[in-house]
Amino acid sequence: MSVAAGARVCVLGAGRGSAELIDLLADGGVDVVALDDQHPAGPHAVAGAPVVGALSAAVAEAAKGRTVLSGIANSRSMGIRLAIVDKLAALGLRPDAWGSFVHESARVSRRASIGKGAIIYPGVQIAVDARVDEHALVYFNTVVHHDAVVERGAILCAGVLLAGHVKVGAAAYLGVGAVVRDGVTVGARALVGMGAVVTSDVPAGAVVKGVPARG
Ligand SMILES: CC(C)(COP(=O)(O)OP(=O)(O)OC[C@H]1O[C@@H](n2cnc3c(N)ncnc32)[C@H](O)[C@@H]1OP(=O)(O)O)[C@@H](O)C(=O)NCCC(=O)NCCS
Repeated sequence: MSVAAGARVCVLGAGRGSAELIDLLADGGVDVVALDDQHPAGPHAVAGAPVVGALSAAVAEAAKGRTVLSGIANSRSMGIRLAIVDKLAALGLRPDAWGSFVHESARVSRRASIGKGAIIYPGVQIAVDARVDEHALVYFNTVVHHDAVVERGAILCAGVLLAGHVKVGAAAYLGVGAVVRDGVTVGARALVGMGAVVTSDVPAGAVVKGVPARG
């Protein structure tokens, strides 16, 4: 279930992506602290949330009752969201420590599913029988049409349009405004450039761009 007003959350990452997420959470009345491995010594804040430790401190923060969300996303480091999930699991973070966040302005079909750790930004539409799996990140105004599947840790940047029955593989990254034709599969860890029009399957790990998208 999405974190709600009054919840206590720790957000992973103190970069600008995490700043966006923290800003949305704070607007919604959520109490947020941030964790990051690169935070400078001394008091430091991101989007108004204090940075209170390294990523590994998520285990202790969860033990203190904070729900964990990750704002980390990077097109140059495919799979980073899942790598951090695995690292924290090895340190003892329980799967139920992860929350999910669905902004109140998003429309999610009651027949769609949203996995743990998934983040759904404002204006997103998730249609009937679509699936957004654990730790996926769906940015502003993206549309996930009927029966589309977004697998674990995949990142859909702002304004992506997935037609019906599209499958986006685990840890794939779709740049701003990419459009994917109905029934097409974007393979795991593939990178689709901003503005691309994807008309045929993209192999796992491939980088494609342009109209129509090519490697
Ligand atoms: C496709 C992408 C991964 C390529 O990155 P890159 O390897 O660093 O490529 P470069 O910027 O060096 O550009 C290489 C060439 O591809 C072109 N190019 C770059 N991105 C392109 C795109 N999305 N569509 C079409 N052409 C593109 C460049 O103009 C350049 O062309 P040239 O060789 O004729 O001058 C990147 O441009 C991209 O689209 N990333 C997603 C960005 C995004 O959505 N960020 C969201 C942040 S919230």
